[in-house]
Amino acid sequence: EMIYHISGLSVLEDKIKHILKIKKVIVLPGDSEKDKTVQKEMGRACANYIKNLINDNSIISLTGGTSVAKVIDNFPKINTNNVLVVPARGGIGRDVEIQANTLTANLAKKIGATYRLLHVPDKISSETLESIINEPEIKDILDLLSKSDILLFGIGRADEMSKRRGMPQELIDDLLQKGAVAEAFGYYFNKKGEIIFRTPSIGINFNDVKKIKNIIAIAGGKNKAEAIIATHIDNSEMVLVTDEAAANEIITLM
Ligand code: G3H
Repeated sequence: EMIYHISGLSVLEDKIKHILKIKKVIVLPGDSEKDKTVQKEMGRACANYIKNLINDNSIISLTGGTSVAKVIDNFPKINTNNVLVVPARGGIGRDVEIQANTLTANLAKKIGATYRLLHVPDKISSETLESIINEPEIKDILDLLSKSDILLFGIGRADEMSKRRGMPQELIDDLLQKGAVAEAFGYYFNKKGEIIFRTPSIGINFNDVKKIKNIIAIAGGKNKAEAIIATHIDNSEMVLVTDEAAANEIITLM
């Protein structure tokens, strides 16, 4: 029965890989929206996958969120040589436990790496943004981000993420009316996978994301299927760690 189950999931993994035109898909059994232990198993599987990608001098960047937090929580303690961990974007929001800065420091500690932080709020005026971008320290981090060897990120629903980020209701309404369904590293995508908005903050650039050799998304739950499809990264190297519920729903929607 176990063998049957495993082969069932690998068929699902293959289907999703072809639908999304990406390198690899890892599907964990269950629905993380309903059962939080599923998210933990996704985190563990994702951590084990990433562990084997880390080399000497690797630069690892990551976003915040509960899914990425599960990856870091379940990351094995390993020894690395001259590895650097960097948050993929600023964003000092409310939940400090799941901020990219916090997860960056936590991962660095587990793997004996050094880390840099991005102390930039999530929503700032364009004038402030202009002047912050020109700070040497920030420039330095943006440069490191563009050289990421490994990027780990979460995918969220546009409606949930805009609320979580404390966006003004007017802007949320406008965004959703324009068709935003997904959010990843500060970019909002419509159903067609087109970027329709970028959160005014400091972070990794979409053109760099397209070129990263090891890019791993983690997102599960039936309710995230549409967002997963919409987050079109245009990078055939992408790997997705998800769950059975999201995977089945992706097939239904496509
Ligand atoms: O940007 C999207 C978020 O990282 C998704 O967050 O993993 O808590 O749903 P989550």
